[in-house]
This record gives sequence, structure tokens and C-alpha cells, in this order.
Amino acid sequence: MTKDKLHWYMDAIFYEVHVRAYCDSNGDGKGDIPGLISKLDYIKELGVDCIWILPIYPSPLKDDGYDIADYYSVHPDYGTIDDFKNLILEAHKRGLKVIADLVLNHTSDQHPWFQKSRSDPNSKYRDYYVWSETDEKYENTRIIFLDTEVSNWTYDEVAGMYFWHRFYSTQPDLNYDNPEVVKEMMNVMDFWLDMGIDGFRADAVPYLIEREGTNCENLPETHEILKQFRKHLDEKYEDKILLAEANQWPVDVRPYFGEGDEFHMGFHFPVMPRIYMAMRKGDTSPIHWIMSQTPEIPENTQWCIFLRNHDELTLEMVTEEERQWMWSEYAPDPRMRLNLGIRRRLAPLLDNDQQKILLANALLYALPGAPIIYYGDEIGMGDNIWLFDRNGVRTPMQWNDSINAGFSKANPEDLYAPVIDSPEYTYKKVNVAVERQDPESLLNKMRHLVSVRKSHPIFAVGDFEFLAQDQTSFLAILRTLEEQNVICIHNLTGEEKSIELDLSNFSGRRLINLLEESEPDTITEKKQSYILKPHQFLWMRVTD
Ligand code: NOJ
Repeated sequence: MTKDKLHWYMDAIFYEVHVRAYCDSNGDGKGDIPGLISKLDYIKELGVDCIWILPIYPSPLKDDGYDIADYYSVHPDYGTIDDFKNLILEAHKRGLKVIADLVLNHTSDQHPWFQKSRSDPNSKYRDYYVWSETDEKYENTRIIFLDTEVSNWTYDEVAGMYFWHRFYSTQPDLNYDNPEVVKEMMNVMDFWLDMGIDGFRADAVPYLIEREGTNCENLPETHEILKQFRKHLDEKYEDKILLAEANQWPVDVRPYFGEGDEFHMGFHFPVMPRIYMAMRKGDTSPIHWIMSQTPEIPENTQWCIFLRNHDELTLEMVTEEERQWMWSEYAPDPRMRLNLGIRRRLAPLLDNDQQKILLANALLYALPGAPIIYYGDEIGMGDNIWLFDRNGVRTPMQWNDSINAGFSKANPEDLYAPVIDSPEYTYKKVNVAVERQDPESLLNKMRHLVSVRKSHPIFAVGDFEFLAQDQTSFLAILRTLEEQNVICIHNLTGEEKSIELDLSNFSGRRLINLLEESEPDTITEKKQSYILKPHQFLWMRVTD
């Protein structure tokens, strides 16, 4: 990799925002697009490059907007198409890019396509969905929303048949064997791209096609369809991206990059739980192992890496034994568990310990890929496990210590969800206004980490090698880009530890601390030793 081949998304830092949760401009208790626009300066100050917004389309909200009833409009709670255009304009003015969700796999059952499909066997829409006389097809397919769904088939009284759905039974799957559906979705893409958005996070892409005798995931036919979307994008637009949500093992995600002709980016799901495992065990092996399982990807593509998002912390890509261990360590209360995951935010998962939160972020940023920050995690927001489904990690952003955390002027009982007001995470203490003023706050330290990461593209695209693999309490990483080298060491344990690094390859050169000012260290022939405090990390650049 060389720096001149760097596309914008390769060394970008993303910020995931739920419009409903961010800022309410009209006092109806729900966040909206004008509210988000009013906070763009804050997002810019954080140092990120691109905002990913969760679905903002009209929807009955049975799956918080991932059940779309109209692909060509904005949910009235959030504003209008003009507001959306304004968001793009204002974001671009500040040098921020915006990507939105493209929900390909399914619609809401309230979508007019489904309404026509179920009620009129002769309409062209009948074939837009996957219908069957029996519920016995595709039996090797797992159920994803295990806590709510008992089957991937639901009987529809109106049609007198079963329809296929990988998620809630209110989200019928579209039929991608029908080229009309592919065309419809290309039109959807064009609509938003013509408005100026910079790309899409494509939802649930492994499940587009079903075939008997398979698990109906990652099928070659699905990849063919996805490549058509990419081709369409490349033919009409420049510099726009497709990011794949494929919650799969790295080897199964690899084909989503194609030969650089499918997705520009793909989430790396399995590395995420292993960062938590490694930290709780004080042992690098889970991270060493998953990175050894991570294949090379084409030069014009990039991994997207994250610690948390708007869903449960998924434990699909771990063994049964590891899942049980993760649940016992990180979700001791059964209410913290959901489906095959954990519905908690970053700060509560890491004992609200600032050093641990920074370490988790540092580990993420030291790995190859483009990191995503989930809104609120940069200030250490708490969660509310008592709310329905995944809503406990989607509570209002905490701006200040005034009523409703400065999120809304509505009566508190009219908010779409209560603000976090538990003793430890109350908005009176955990909020942007307070943290902005405190140089030692998580927010300011996150900003610093982001800025260091951003000013060294080596972190995003440099070659990657683990050092000192035998010293398992430390994750030591060497990154290399052209003539540059960065060395990152992270103490995973809660104890002060010393590490010895053999850096004789760089003998005679010096190491500059990237995170704070200090005297450069000269590298000797002998081993370099470092003493790191509990959960401390050190990032250093090799220089002459
Ligand atoms: C993945 C999304 O992240 C999740 O929130 C949603 O429920 C499912 N896809 C279904 O769209």
C-alpha cells in the first residue's frame, strides 16, 4: 500500500448517529434532521470524517426504521426531504461526508409493494417477495432474532401463503431472483446519491438469495446481485462507497470485497468481541488469533472496525464456550442479554473506567481498518437495559445538565425514550458541556486519540505485524507504510507490567511518543524495555 492510493474511506473515522436520539429541534420529544444539523460542529470537532445515519425513512418503526414503508421519503418525525438535502449541504460545507442505510433485504409489511403482493396474485408485486405454500422450505436457515421469532416463515391470511423473513415477521424479505427488485433498488440508490450522499451502509447483505439445501447465507447468486449494485454505482457516480453489513467470519466476508468490484468496505464483526475478551482476560491470544484468520483484501477496499453500535454486542462469531464466557463476564444479569448478544454500551461494559475505555479504543485504532464511533460512547454514556429490544443503547444524547440532557424541550414524559439518569451515568455528570471544559475528560481524550490516528494514515492502511507475541499481557503491533514505522504497545492487564521489545532492526534510530510530549528514546541493539501502568498504552513513531 502506498499513500497515493488512499481513497477517502480508507483512512476515515466514522461516527454512527441515530437521528431520533441525537437532538430534537421542534420539541416533540424525538430527534430530527434539523437537530442533527445543529450539532454538526460538535461532530466536526470530534475529528471524524463521515457520519453514518441510521434509517430515516417512513416506517412503522417495528424495527426502529429498518422496516421501511417508503424508500423515497423521510419519516415525518425526522423532517423533510429538504431537511435532508440541507443536512448533506451543511455536512459537506464542514468537510464531513454522510452515508445512509440501504436496507436491501426486506421492507416493512406496510410497504405498498407488500400490500399489493399479498392481496393480488396477478399483480407484478406478487413476485417481489418470497412466497410459499408450505413453511418447510430452506430448513437449514438459522433464525436471527431468536428471542422473538420462531420461524423464518409467517403465514399471511390475505395471501393464504407463507412469506419468508430473516428478521421480524413484520419485515418480509424481497425476492432477489426477480430482476425487477434489483432495478427498484438501483432506483432507490440513485435517488439518494443524486441528492449528494456519499454512499451506503448496506444492511443484512448475506441474505438476499435463498436456495434449498444451503443455509441461505453468502450464496454466489447473492454476490452476483451485489456486484450489479456496485457496477451501477461505478457507472454513474464517483467517490461514493458501499459498506457491507455481513456478520460473518472474515473468510466469509472476504468475497464481499470481490476483486475490488463488490463492496468498498466491510465490517469486521469477529474482532470486536475479541477485544473485550482480551481485555477481560489480560491476554492477547483472542486478538492474535482472529487477526491470523483475517485474509488480505483488495487494495482499494477497507475493513470497518468498531467496539459498539446500535445493536446488541453480537456474539454470533464466537464459539459456544466463548459466548457463555462473554455472557458471564459482561452480562451477568440475564436482562443484559438479547438474542445472541449483549445489550449494553461501551462505558458500562468497561466498568466506566476511563483508562479501559481509552485502551479499547486504542486497540481498535491500532488495527488496520476504518474505525466507527457510536454516538454517545465518546462521552461515556450509560445504557438502560430495562427498555424494550435494543432501545437501551439508543437513548437521547446527553448534551448538558439541563432538563432532558439538553436533547429536547419536550416534557420529559413525551421523550421517545427516557434520558439516562442512573447515579453513575446521569446526564447531570455525563454530558458534552461538562466534558468539553475538562481537559481530562473522556471526550477530550477521545478527541486527542482521534486526531493522532487521523494524522497518521499508517494506522489505517499500513502493513501490520504483531511483535513480542510471547508476552501475552501486551498487544504489541508494528505498522509500516512506505518508509515509516509506528510501534504500538498496550498493557491489557490491570497491573503495572514491563515489556521487552526486540527492536534491533531499528537500531540507532529514535522513537517519538505520538500521544504525549516526551524525550525521544534511542533504540539500541539490546532489547528495549517499557514499564506500562494498568491498561496504559504507548504509540511511538520511529524516526532518525
Ligand atoms: C441489522 C441492523 O443493524 C439491525 O438494527 C436490524 O434490526 C437488522 N439488520 C434488520 O434490518
